[in-house]
Amino acid sequence: MSVMVIIPAAGSGTRFGGPIPKQFQPLAGKPLVQYVVERFLLTEAARVVVAIPELLLTTIKQAPGDRVQFVAGGETRLQSVINAMKAAGDGYDVVAVHDAVRPFFRIDTFARLIDVAREHGAAAPALPVTDTIHATRDGRLTATVDRSNLVAAQTPQCFRFDVLRDSLARAEREKFDATDEAGLAAHFGYDVQIVPGDPFNIKITRPEDLALAEAHFAEWSSE
Ligand code: CTP
Ligand code: MG
Repeated sequence: MSVMVIIPAAGSGTRFGGPIPKQFQPLAGKPLVQYVVERFLLTEAARVVVAIPELLLTTIKQAPGDRVQFVAGGETRLQSVINAMKAAGDGYDVVAVHDAVRPFFRIDTFARLIDVAREHGAAAPALPVTDTIHATRDGRLTATVDRSNLVAAQTPQCFRFDVLRDSLARAEREKFDATDEAGLAAHFGYDVQIVPGDPFNIKITRPEDLALAEAHFAEWSSE
């Protein structure tokens, strides 16, 4: 059984702001993306494909046998994942997609997601929504949404190779965009199983999230 990991790391971090994209901000002295790549190198992943801003590609030296491969990202997160999938070639049973800006994914959850994806086709970690969710218009509350069936999506999201390849190809053909691949696979009719996520598997979106991550890192021990 062979697992490939795709890490989209080619965004510009507009909500985070600042002079460098957030995936290159340091956590515990390392750029976030490096932290995440190194964590995947502790897992069974045979290959880690990282989509980075095209401009940076020339600064990276890569040997053909490397376990980590860098490719140019695209305009959207989905396009970055498509580029990585095309560059990686085939021969993998399961593909995982993980945000470069989620440093605290659990390795045991990853193993479970791989198992569930092999059995069902796709698996995504998510947490039940705990806040009350309101719909608004022009700054006014218009309705309260029933949250009983709502979950907040996390990564790594895992797919049988053919499920992800087909979903990405159809998205490209039909010019369908999605903010994650689990939603995409479900849109194209695949069975996407939800696996319990982890509250500490936060996504660094705004500067406050990085402050939280630094605080969490201090008391965090890897499993
Ligand atoms: N991403 C990517 N290529 C893009 C856009 C996003 O590879 N064209 C990556 C980001 O680098 C990040 C992940 O997708 O690792 C999750 O996206 P998000 O948190 O939205 O990051 P950004 O798009 O960079 O941030 P923002 O939406 O605030 O601009
Ligand atoms: Mg974005």
